[in-house]
Amino acid sequence: MLRNFLSKLAWAFTLAVAATARPVGYAASTHLELASQGLSHGASPAEEDGRTIYLQRCVWCHGEAGRGDGPSAAGMLPRPRDFVAAHYKIRSTPHGQLPTDEDLFRTISRGMPGTPMPGWEKILSKEDRWKLVAYVKSFSPRFQSEKREALAVPTGSASVDRGREVYRQAKCFLCHGEAGRGDGEITARLNFEWGLPFSARDLTRGWTFLGGHTPAEIYLRITGGLNGTPMGPYQDLLTDQERWNLAHYVASLDQEPDETSEDFLIIAAFTRSKIPPQHEAAEWKKARPVHVPLAGQVVLNPPARWWTPTAGSSTVRALWNGQDLGLLVEWDDPTGPDSRWADSALVQFAASPELRPYFLFGQADSPVKVWHWQAQTGAESWTATGPDKFHAEVPGFRVASNWKDGRWHVLFQGALASEPGLPAPPRQAGLAVGSFVPILFSVRDGANGERDHVRAISTWLYVTLESPPSARPWLLALACVLATVIGQVWLISKLRS
Ligand code: HEC
Ligand code: HEC
Repeated sequence: MLRNFLSKLAWAFTLAVAATARPVGYAASTHLELASQGLSHGASPAEEDGRTIYLQRCVWCHGEAGRGDGPSAAGMLPRPRDFVAAHYKIRSTPHGQLPTDEDLFRTISRGMPGTPMPGWEKILSKEDRWKLVAYVKSFSPRFQSEKREALAVPTGSASVDRGREVYRQAKCFLCHGEAGRGDGEITARLNFEWGLPFSARDLTRGWTFLGGHTPAEIYLRITGGLNGTPMGPYQDLLTDQERWNLAHYVASLDQEPDETSEDFLIIAAFTRSKIPPQHEAAEWKKARPVHVPLAGQVVLNPPARWWTPTAGSSTVRALWNGQDLGLLVEWDDPTGPDSRWADSALVQFAASPELRPYFLFGQADSPVKVWHWQAQTGAESWTATGPDKFHAEVPGFRVASNWKDGRWHVLFQGALASEPGLPAPPRQAGLAVGSFVPILFSVRDGANGERDHVRAISTWLYVTLESPPSARPWLLALACVLATVIGQVWLISKLRS
């Protein structure tokens, strides 16, 4: 749900930019004027209607001539599709063929998650989407002459274990990494050569697959490849059954929970022991993981939106032990610590539980507390009252970080009760049993050019402390056990005598 909300937010922004954009060339002509210029002779009524809708909805990114060069496309990565060149990623057809009409209809309806290409299902009627299919095809004469045959998807049973072996044999890991997180050894180089904004897809995040993440959909991507990217076709390299097993293995890697299980509340589990600095420690299993979607930040100067943050989500766990609060923040980052600009993460608390300040870094009348960790320099703390109004403080927290197999594990640990010489931000933020404090997370991938305010952020969530279990139920249980034992001993001795 939250993810839908974030993508809608991204949307609203795009549409707002699109609606206000009056670039040279578009300024003189309104949609209707453009539409009335019509198509070349011989266009079908569906294409004519499709053109009118296209000029209202799609032209901003895909351009009037379908070249992927609309006024909003500048700086957009991946680039909007060039319909004249017609290299389509999402096809049910073999490599070298164009997509079927159903493929185009599906992409237009559902969009391409994790890219600026929106889904139009809820905005345009079915008829209008089919008219757009007709119009998009009219940009390339190849659609008239070439055959397009959908591949048959196997229906028999499949083995995830054998799929895992195929993943090794076919060397998918070279790009997608051992654990599937897109951190394979040649992916960064490919990224650069192909001018791609991201590495090979992170296979543990099924919702970011452009063409869907059911085994059948994954089978088609592996079989036919994604045109215009380093992800080639495996139809001639692997048998149907091998690709079918592999598709099931890839589907099994998807670790993100169902959208409906996202929630806004982080409950810090109570522990009697120390908060362990290692993310693998068993103690962390006590804390319920909360899946926190992240989206690109709106950058103020120049006004733009960061479309392609590396991290699309993070997992957050919290523990407290009466003295300290620990927050374990984990997210996928294929490139890890080595980059020119440092990776970083921050946790932001509203300074007072009653107020939910404006997004990142608060504002004059509602300050925020920020715990910031940078891979190269470590921990820093601020009170902030706006995007450029930071007041540095002695960090009231410690941090332990670890990058492994394409994933960052960063543990923030701060004092709840004041220690001499240490300010205690959570305490000041009113964190106590029974209070709900607004909290927000943000991470940066330096290798992806993210620095300063160019980052991935979450929306506001809430954090609260689980109340420590009282001693009474234990005593009661102990009393019951003792009473039973004494009773049995008495009964046995009675029976014996
Ligand atoms: C906000 C910008 C934006 C708007 C508006 C937009 N698109 Fe796209 N579109 C993109 C981007 C970016 C891609 C390429 C994504 C990628 O390569 O991963 C794309 C890709 C596509 C593709 C290619 C699918 C494939 O298999 O490769 C089709 C078809 C498409 N868009 C149709 C449309 C239609 C029709 C509309 C209007 C109803 C539209 N788009 C509106 C940005 C946009
Ligand atoms: C040479 C590097 C490379 C190799 C090898 C490779 N991939 Fe990919 N793969 C990519 C890239 C890059 C993308 C993302 C393409 C894009 O959207 O721009 C991708 C995307 C994908 C996707 C996502 C499809 C979607 O709908 O978004 C799947 C699934 C996938 N690859 C599976 C595999 C499997 C399984 C193998 C082994 C048979 C494999 N890949 C081998 C580079 C590679």
